[in-house]
Amino acid sequence: MAIIETKGLSKSFKTRRGLVEAVKSVDMTVDEGEIFGFLGPNGAGKTTTMRMLSTLMQPTGGQATVAGHDLLQEPARVRENIGYVSQAGGVDISMSGRENLVLQARLYRVNQATAKERAQELIVALQMEDFADRSAKTYSGGQKRRLDIGLGMAHRPPLLFLDEPTTGLDPQSRAHLWEEVRKLRNEGTTIFLTTHYLDEADALCDRLCIIDNGVIVTEGTPDTLKHQVAGDVVTLGLETHNGALMQAQALLGKQSFVREIQVDKDVLRLYVERGETALPQILRVLDGAGIALQTIALARPSLDDVFLRQTGRSLREQAA
Ligand SMILES: Nc1ncnc2c1ncn2[C@@H]1O[C@H](COP(=O)(O)OP(=O)(O)OP(=O)(O)O)[C@@H](O)[C@H]1O
Ligand SMILES: [Mg+2]
Repeated sequence: MAIIETKGLSKSFKTRRGLVEAVKSVDMTVDEGEIFGFLGPNGAGKTTTMRMLSTLMQPTGGQATVAGHDLLQEPARVRENIGYVSQAGGVDISMSGRENLVLQARLYRVNQATAKERAQELIVALQMEDFADRSAKTYSGGQKRRLDIGLGMAHRPPLLFLDEPTTGLDPQSRAHLWEEVRKLRNEGTTIFLTTHYLDEADALCDRLCIIDNGVIVTEGTPDTLKHQVAGDVVTLGLETHNGALMQAQALLGKQSFVREIQVDKDVLRLYVERGETALPQILRVLDGAGIALQTIALARPSLDDVFLRQTGRSLREQAA
């Protein structure tokens, strides 16, 4: 079941220097219960899309259904069913985390007693017990980000938008936050997040879109996207003096599962469709011919290879 469906969703800004087309006719579907990612470089249109889908910004074109309601016809109903955590976050640092959570629930017309219960549930769910009762002023980046997510979840929305949830966090806090996000997903919340981290998109998202210059360039699970690029690369280390390398090259070059084969000094590089099924086949062929193997390694293309293939630019280089 789709929880978000967009058709031709667009946003352009009129500026003094002309029209900025931030989002150009985006068609996409987010399924209920998944962690869906929007991966793209700075200025790609991630925040703009998310702000439209969360009713904070009016589209200039197209339409969308969000959490069962028409975005343009029933924005209030959409709002009741979503949580939104902005890139900057919304923590009031003059209060404790618990007070922030209670206030947020109260904003959604929840009574005081229920608001307190919800706050406690979130504190447990997001593992904030150690710091929930001190001033948010004293929180680390990761603690504040966890509270941000708690604020987005205070009215128990089935759909949560997270704009760059881990930007600026250290690796340990990021890993921790990924765990919290997975936990929310496992408890039934659909998560739509944006990121410009390749590893985050890869590790966290069930499915993702790559967006560049306001256009969706490709969409799929991290694995399918990577497989589309060029399959996997298997690297074999072989003896050269006894002819093993050349013999292996001749034998493996004939196999139908090998797309391409390259020699690089004492290493054979095989481009194959699926590494995990190719490995045992390679071993069988070499074993059958009595060829001794020194090393074997399997490498997967990364999401950066996907981005590179689609846009001609590297996301990693842009980030650096
Ligand atoms: N209010 C505005 N007026 C004019 N241009 C805007 C406005 N808001 C966004 N833009 C432009 O729209 C484009 C998309 O911006 P957006 O904030 O959606 O990018 P993003 O993918 O979220 O980037 P980042 O990774 O840096 O957060 C950018 O070129 C931006 O400068
Ligand atoms: Mg943004």
